Amino acid sequence: MILLTSANGKTGRHMMKAMVAKGLPLRAICRSSAGPLGAQEVLYGDQLDKAFLGRAMEGVKAVIHIGPPMHPHESAMGQFVIDAARENGIEHFVYISVLHPQIEALLNHQAKLRVENALIQSRLPFTILQPTHYMQNIDVASVVASGVLTSPFALSSRLSFVDMEDVAEVAAKVVLQPDHWFATYPLCSEDCLTTHEVAEAISTHSGRPIEARYISLEQILDTPGTEGSVGDQTLDKLRRHRGEVPDYSIDALRRLVACYNSYGIRGNPNVLRWLLNRDPTNITAFIRRHLPPFRSEDGQQ
Ligand SMILES: NC(=O)c1ccc[n+]([C@@H]2O[C@H](COP(=O)([O-])OP(=O)(O)OC[C@H]3O[C@@H](n4cnc5c(N)ncnc54)[C@H](OP(=O)(O)O)[C@@H]3O)[C@@H](O)[C@H]2O)c1
Repeated sequence: MILLTSANGKTGRHMMKAMVAKGLPLRAICRSSAGPLGAQEVLYGDQLDKAFLGRAMEGVKAVIHIGPPMHPHESAMGQFVIDAARENGIEHFVYISVLHPQIEALLNHQAKLRVENALIQSRLPFTILQPTHYMQNIDVASVVASGVLTSPFALSSRLSFVDMEDVAEVAAKVVLQPDHWFATYPLCSEDCLTTHEVAEAISTHSGRPIEARYISLEQILDTPGTEGSVGDQTLDKLRRHRGEVPDYSIDALRRLVACYNSYGIRGNPNVLRWLLNRDPTNITAFIRRHLPPFRSEDGQQ
């Protein structure tokens, strides 16, 4: 049995789809009741609850741990999941981290670095996956519908992208394979693009003009409604729950924006190419996969 944490989130759902496609036995942990479909077993609980984590580990061979993004207790949660895995004699621990967790200015990267450290010193066989910025942060259908790609990052900052489906494919590939024990894999496609270039690519493939438009983080967080227009689902989610978002999360976001504005984030696709045994999905394929079906004037698709 494989245990997947944060299964109801965006990454979790992609992981689950990839595991189910491979016929891997899966137990999914969800907090909210809108649980995912597909896992053989679904457990509802809080990943900060040690007793719950202990029960969730029973009969489990490998764990895939995803921490909730920008969460004030992300490191503690990672430590608790590692402790429960150790206590239950888990064979392999796969941790979904982030590209370049050593960036000191970023709270969310530092949280993941602490979990990586704890894992390396846990004596558990581990595989650390370090995805860069997800392509799925771009809501292609809504961008095409509005004609605008908004971003809180400087429009000329370069970001390496990766397709979450590729990340999930890798997780499903490594989770039961001792060949991948004690390894850390940065995961990037070959695309390292500015927002202008992403807008241009969406325009090319949709045949519609797309404007790249800067929107400040404060505007995003303070402007109600217009769900989907921002093109980053994490930001959209934070905006919808603005009143409940902890100061830590806002601080983490402000630092992320400042860091991306100054430096962007860049990685190398070689490791992902080797793991997939093919070229990583590029932004063109991603955009084409997510284009809305167009209807002609006579209603044909
Ligand atoms: N976005 C990117 O470009 C990117 C790139 C690289 C790495 N990452 C990392 O990938 C990870 C996953 O991100 P994501 O965007 O997939 O996250 P997400 O969609 O926000 O999902 C997070 C999940 O965690 C669950 N959760 C939160 N607190 C919990 C708790 N106390 N107990 C149990 N479950 C809890 C949430 O449950 P509910 O649904 O019930 O709230 C949610 O389903 C993050 O660590 C992020 O930093 C993201």
